[in-house]
Amino acid sequence: MTFKPDFLWGGATAANQFEGAFLEDGRGWSTADTAKYYPHSDKTSMDSLMDPMTTSKIEFAKKDLEGIYPKRYGIDFYHHFKEDIALFAEMGFKTFRMSISWSRIFPNGDELEPNETGLQFYDQVFDELLKYHIEPLVTMSHYEFPLGLALKQNGWESRETVAHFEKYARVILNRYKDKVKYWLTFNEINIIGITGYLSGGLLADKTQNMLQSQFQAAHHQFLASALAVKACHEIIPEAKIGCMLARMETYPETCNPLDVMATIDSDHANLFYSDVQVRGYYPTYMKKVFKDHHLKIIKESGDDQLLKEGKVDFMSFSYYMSSISSSSEEGEVIGGNFTQTKKNPYLKSSDWGWQIDPVGLRITLHKLYDRYQVPLFVVENGLGAHDTLEEDKTIHDNYRIDYLREHIKQMGIAIDEGVDLMGYTPWGCIDLVSASTSEMSKRYGFIYVDQDNEGEGSLKRFKKDSFYWYKSVIQSNGETLYK
Ligand code: BG6
Repeated sequence: MTFKPDFLWGGATAANQFEGAFLEDGRGWSTADTAKYYPHSDKTSMDSLMDPMTTSKIEFAKKDLEGIYPKRYGIDFYHHFKEDIALFAEMGFKTFRMSISWSRIFPNGDELEPNETGLQFYDQVFDELLKYHIEPLVTMSHYEFPLGLALKQNGWESRETVAHFEKYARVILNRYKDKVKYWLTFNEINIIGITGYLSGGLLADKTQNMLQSQFQAAHHQFLASALAVKACHEIIPEAKIGCMLARMETYPETCNPLDVMATIDSDHANLFYSDVQVRGYYPTYMKKVFKDHHLKIIKESGDDQLLKEGKVDFMSFSYYMSSISSSSEEGEVIGGNFTQTKKNPYLKSSDWGWQIDPVGLRITLHKLYDRYQVPLFVVENGLGAHDTLEEDKTIHDNYRIDYLREHIKQMGIAIDEGVDLMGYTPWGCIDLVSASTSEMSKRYGFIYVDQDNEGEGSLKRFKKDSFYWYKSVIQSNGETLYK
């Protein structure tokens, strides 16, 4: 059997994109709450993410009564969690990836005591999951950050944020030590090097040099991650805690050695983060990068030792697409997950232009396993697509089944070829708000949620064709894929 009997089949979500109830029961403001949806805009997802955030834009968003801010209401999992978890159980999920909203536990990020009502909410969610024998897989920080700490100390640029995070991590590890055995520290930690506000709370008006702030913030997140790993091992010795990278698999455009070199540069920019978290030290190739960009990472004595002591147990990553690296600027450029890339003539693209490449997932699994020799976990993968709710309330999403089937098959081959893979949690197992564009119409789920881009709809849940298909994949532990 390709997939081991305890293979963790499931699905993935994040609080900021599906929980809602944004100021309810003591939750404070988070960076995600300022993400505006621009109806009928020709802004690309990259444009909206790359817009530098400032204090005045935040003040505006907090008072803006006209704008649409979908991450504030998500799909209202906060009030639907029992119904949603019952559907996950019906599909046979072994695990469910979700995140805890830091500002639900510490509303401003720096309070002395946690918000008990926030803690109780996650107690109820975990109890409900465990009732169905679904293992929670919990991300401590997924694309949201207490707004209070962004405004007060420019988010992760400040070293003080490390201590606030460690306190938050210890509170949730202690509270849920009997309920949660799988943890992730920072979602797609490498995105801090691409855009600073989303996960880093970095504001353009609080820094003279955003790139310097981004890399300093990354250093602080590495320290915080290492402290969380140590705390997890101490508090829940039987638990496993991993890092999470947005894997950007890239191919040389041609066999021109300069294109191959461009691929190596691109891999360095991407794998720097997991190199630190899995190996426990800064890779030497970064010295030149820092020098070329005149960056200086401020480290204190003891930091390097801490990174060594806080190595993760496993590596998780997201994989949606592959891209092209080239030494030439010519050629058609298309969009992607936080990237723009040249078009690969061998691949088809999604409705949003992301290039579909199942074999790329197998390539990535090999590269990461060869490099790190630690168990891997695919915690995000999937197809963002327009779905149609038919009059009889069915949704025929064969395109999604095709995408997932081909990716899972490649995972199976990689396992047969020797890769140690712990599990698979496709992204947005229930439709939720898009991270990059705040749209609702970019759907990934097995479960359709009746809500449109403007937040209108009954919020009723409907099973798509892929729901029944994924259920049979899990039930047969992947066997049905090969029939
Ligand atoms: C990953 C993120 O980058 O991609 C998720 O971890 C995100 O939060 C997912 O939702 C898909 O991206 P998008 O922009 O289509 O929602």
